[in-house]
Amino acid sequence: MAASPSVLILHPRLTLFATSLRPFSLIHHQFSLRPPTPSRLPILFARSRNHSSSISPLPTATPLSTDDSKETPHAGRSGSVSSPPFQAADYSQKIDVNPPKGTRDFPPEEMRLRNWLFQNFREVSQLFGFEEVDYPVLESEALYIRKAGEEIRDQLYCFEDRGNRRVALRPELTPSLARLVMQKGKSVPLPIKWFAVGQCWRYERMTRGRRREHYQWNMDIIGVPDVTGEAELISSIVTFFKRIGITARDVGFKISSRKVLQEVLSFYSVPETSFSKACIIIDKMGKIPLEEIKKELNSVELSTEAVDELLQVLSMKSLTELEEKLGAAGEAVSELKQLFSLAEKFGYSEWIQFDASVVRGLAYYTGIVFEGFDREGKLRAICGGGRYDRLLSTFGGDDIPACGFGFGDAVIIELLKERKLLPELPLEVENIVCSLDPDLQGAASSVATVLRGKGQCVDLVLENKPLKWVFKRAARINARRLILVGSSEWQRGMVSVKILSTGEQYEVNFDELG
Ligand code: HAM
Repeated sequence: MAASPSVLILHPRLTLFATSLRPFSLIHHQFSLRPPTPSRLPILFARSRNHSSSISPLPTATPLSTDDSKETPHAGRSGSVSSPPFQAADYSQKIDVNPPKGTRDFPPEEMRLRNWLFQNFREVSQLFGFEEVDYPVLESEALYIRKAGEEIRDQLYCFEDRGNRRVALRPELTPSLARLVMQKGKSVPLPIKWFAVGQCWRYERMTRGRRREHYQWNMDIIGVPDVTGEAELISSIVTFFKRIGITARDVGFKISSRKVLQEVLSFYSVPETSFSKACIIIDKMGKIPLEEIKKELNSVELSTEAVDELLQVLSMKSLTELEEKLGAAGEAVSELKQLFSLAEKFGYSEWIQFDASVVRGLAYYTGIVFEGFDREGKLRAICGGGRYDRLLSTFGGDDIPACGFGFGDAVIIELLKERKLLPELPLEVENIVCSLDPDLQGAASSVATVLRGKGQCVDLVLENKPLKWVFKRAARINARRLILVGSSEWQRGMVSVKILSTGEQYEVNFDELG
């Protein structure tokens, strides 16, 4: 590598470069590399005549915000087999450039943020020894039809496909996980520790952090019956929070166990079949009036006495109080105590608190349940999970103890915004490579290929642009180096390099470029 003084400037594009890169060697020659012959093959566009099947939420979908109420679903669960009549697009009208309501585009800056978040999800999962899995976004509708009257069922995006199958866009990942575990059978040794990051669809009433599509990070442990599983899962979420700058002052976990309810209900001889229905009703507390809750509980065979007792237990915020009520012998209290003791060993006691009112809104939970919440109370649940030891048998399989959680991408971003903790993620392409003459475009391509082969990111200038433009672009992409391919240097097997942060400039042999 040797710096060489500027000698002669012939090319108009070099004027600016000469002033800004001096003492670069900038002799312009008509170089022997020929520009590639333009050989664009005609692109054949085959426009499909097919149109998609109608897709719609269940007819019973929760009433939505004002303009939602104008939306008329084409077909619900009993939707017609035939698709809606094909309507040719009117190309004279400009299309609505917004994505469908409740969905998001991810332009580059949003995509960088999403990748950063997912990278953290993935790295934390791997720190805990979990393997990544994924499932189809489109699943059989039957996976989500459970008897307990969950909200998630009313929010299903479901339709009939061209083969008359009822299908749904997945609203969550857990049923797919259960399906895959059943499919794999005994070929996968237990315990299974899997994680996934996938898009979920719910025809949801939109509020801050709640959308019609969201991405969920899930971690699940299959085959561990002890609360060591739940303790490990909460530890992974705490690790994630710490990594992204969230502290125990910002968020906490409310923890309870569905076994608390089970013990109260069995004391009042409430039938087993009412259990998950009662949980779903209780999960609506705070969202609908208490009188309504009581009425609904009565309707699933809970006596007024049982309801009053239940509500009293649900108001408990102390494990000691719960122990006084239920006694120490039951599974509910002993498992909760074990979890709180493990939390101490893991070192995250300050993040968790007992709160009997947490039951979660999904029917399949059977034991410990937990929810991450923002301590300022401005946002909806950040994440949630628990034990679901009997999900597999609802699909006709043999039950295996299981626990896991789901963590959405939307609420955490809102929280990071609130706390001014959003990371700065500028575009960074290490090198920008530019030829100083159209005839040297091929040479610049070779330079880019060599650098990329060495693992360096390169933005190759593809058109004949003035250097002013090249510098602007270099600044926009935060390039560290500008590499110019000029004919005199190229003839000597050299290229010109400018370190953009310091202004240092030199020539370097093409082969030694790294
Ligand atoms: P979930 O509580 O329904 O649980 O959802 C988990 C998390 O997903 C929520 O805490 C929230 O962060 C996010 N989330 C849910 N719905 C939306 C939405 N409409 N918009 C934005 N974010 C949303 C489950 O889905 C369980 N399957 C979790 C699980 C995994 N349990 C065991 N394993």
